[in-house]
Amino acid sequence: MSRLKNKIAVITGGNSGIGLGIAQAFKDEGAKGGIVGRNQKTLDSAMAQLGDNFIAINADVTNLDDLEMVFKKTSEIFGKIDVIVANAGAGIVGTVATIGEAEYDKTMDLNLKAVYFTVNKALPYMNDGGSIVLIGSNAAHRAYPNFTLYGAAKAAVIFFAKAFSSDLLGRKIRANVITPGTTDTPAFEKFVPLEQVDAIKTHFASEMPIGRIGQPSDIGKTAVFLASEDSSFILGTEILVDGGMSYLAK
Ligand SMILES: NC(=O)c1ccc[n+]([C@@H]2O[C@H](COP(=O)([O-])OP(=O)(O)OC[C@H]3O[C@@H](n4cnc5c(N)ncnc54)[C@H](OP(=O)(O)O)[C@@H]3O)[C@@H](O)[C@H]2O)c1
Repeated sequence: MSRLKNKIAVITGGNSGIGLGIAQAFKDEGAKGGIVGRNQKTLDSAMAQLGDNFIAINADVTNLDDLEMVFKKTSEIFGKIDVIVANAGAGIVGTVATIGEAEYDKTMDLNLKAVYFTVNKALPYMNDGGSIVLIGSNAAHRAYPNFTLYGAAKAAVIFFAKAFSSDLLGRKIRANVITPGTTDTPAFEKFVPLEQVDAIKTHFASEMPIGRIGQPSDIGKTAVFLASEDSSFILGTEILVDGGMSYLAK
């Protein structure tokens, strides 16, 4: 398949989980480009899967100088960028009663400010007619316990898809957002003890209207669609890739 042949892409968080699933799907469709993360070990293992058409860039998306470096470096190596996937993020937990200023800033810096500046810093290095794919979360639609700020940040990311598309009409750059439901990624291991991960995944699968949790490849296929010409009439919209969990009663 070659729906992204000759397209240059940058995927933040492309070294793990959903981002890696997107990078693999992009590679399978002929794209080249860069993946971005901070963990050199997972950057290296991702590169072993992605091959020579990709580079790994060790950078922190909450650091604006790092972001500038990411897009400059990618465009110097591959040429102007066609697709940006702002995927890096994490569900930092807490309630309005427990989250103080430091955690507030940390959550918003990663899940909202970094998304804005990923796009802001990428624009000078992007081709007109390109595609921006943002990664939201079903936590934007339902108030899950402890995902108060994360859900608020992701709700704003869904708005960004509309506003960025409007802002960039003159350059024909489209922005859309994918809203994953519970997806099988290493993020689980950051929230629950390793020995409980399988049981938690089984529990989540039983709660899903579709009967399973998502795989990174589910998100990867949708990102290919939004990055490609197949979606050329689609902008400012949200695609739920959530097994029905946001809106279907079970
Ligand atoms: N898994 C789910 O159920 C689910 C559901 C809805 C939405 N999402 C969203 O999907 C996206 C990916 O999540 P995931 O489940 O795939 O999690 P994951 O496996 O933990 O991956 C998170 C990625 O983000 C990168 N990252 C985090 N902070 C970063 C920073 N400051 N600078 C650069 N990279 C950073 C990580 O790389 P390093 O560690 O190397 O920095 C990693 O590659 C997130 O936006 C998340 O909110 C996930």
